[in-house]
Amino acid sequence: MKKRPEILLIGADGQVGWELQRTLAPLGNLTRATLDGRWERALDLANAESIAGVLRETRPDIVINAAAYTAVDKAETEQDLAQRINGDAPGLLGRLLAERRVPVLHYSTDFVFSGQAERPYQEDDEPGPLNVYGATKLDGENRLLDSGAPALILRTSWVYGRHGQNFLLTMQRLLREREELQVVDDQIGAPTWSRLLAEVSAQLLYRVLSGDIDLERQSGLYQVTGGGQTSWWGFAKAIQQASGARCRLLPILSRDYPSPAKRPTYSVLDNGKLLDTFGLALPHWETSLAMCLADT
Ligand SMILES: NC(=O)c1ccc[n+]([C@@H]2O[C@H](COP(=O)([O-])OP(=O)(O)OC[C@H]3O[C@@H](n4cnc5c(N)ncnc54)[C@H](OP(=O)(O)O)[C@@H]3O)[C@@H](O)[C@H]2O)c1
Repeated sequence: MKKRPEILLIGADGQVGWELQRTLAPLGNLTRATLDGRWERALDLANAESIAGVLRETRPDIVINAAAYTAVDKAETEQDLAQRINGDAPGLLGRLLAERRVPVLHYSTDFVFSGQAERPYQEDDEPGPLNVYGATKLDGENRLLDSGAPALILRTSWVYGRHGQNFLLTMQRLLREREELQVVDDQIGAPTWSRLLAEVSAQLLYRVLSGDIDLERQSGLYQVTGGGQTSWWGFAKAIQQASGARCRLLPILSRDYPSPAKRPTYSVLDNGKLLDTFGLALPHWETSLAMCLADT
């Protein structure tokens, strides 16, 4: 009988990690690591010894890192912690896994870009993060790539789903509670359903494990977001229309909604490389949202 691979999932309780638990389970023996160790393992990405210890104990055949410091505004005042988790940890993971040629799947963000573009960003466009979160995530990309480990880095954007903290769940609550709501209408991006991102991730990993994808040649950055684009207001409007809530949604400008971290005005990612290389693509964001909302 063929030996099932040992799969280590870091950040199993995040939005994406939660969905990965389901999509990865059929592929091998899944070890779920979280900060609090509620399932198989405790792992703190801010602690190098914790990372090394879990890798030593579990000897994974493949590693998926869905954990990150994702509090974009808080990162402005917790730069060191954000750097350790988002910047240093992916590099350390890569260095520890490079020698045994253990593949790593890692996630990054549209916030590595400055938002000045007038067409969707491609993987090799010049990054220019506007905030600490984006800068630390960019550093993590570079450190993982420089480690020489076989790696897929999936850049995504505006992740939402039925689990965790995200725009969809916040909007659903506020639309119920409020009669009027102001939402930013001058930041453009692409909403991405966590479940579909997890599906694509599992498809990629299955092909890595079965030898169909050769990471000695195909390692690198790939962008994976929902198709199309919208503003936060447009996203909120679609959620409202589906819910039938009567709350009035008012479009506002970013400058009227000040926040500690600056955000890119335009951060749509071109998904062509993923499609051309692996034949994979996510549906239009409106289609995905409808599927997600139907799944209650
Ligand atoms: N959310 C988005 O809109 C978005 C957009 C673009 C890219 N991404 C990227 O997509 C990936 C997945 O994001 P997500 O939305 O699933 O994030 P999430 O829901 O915030 O989950 C992140 C997970 O990381 C865990 N974590 C935080 N600090 C940790 C540490 N020191 N050690 C171990 N685990 C730690 C968190 O645990 P606790 O909850 O216990 O703190 C949480 O379970 C990340 O790489 C993120 O940068 C997300």
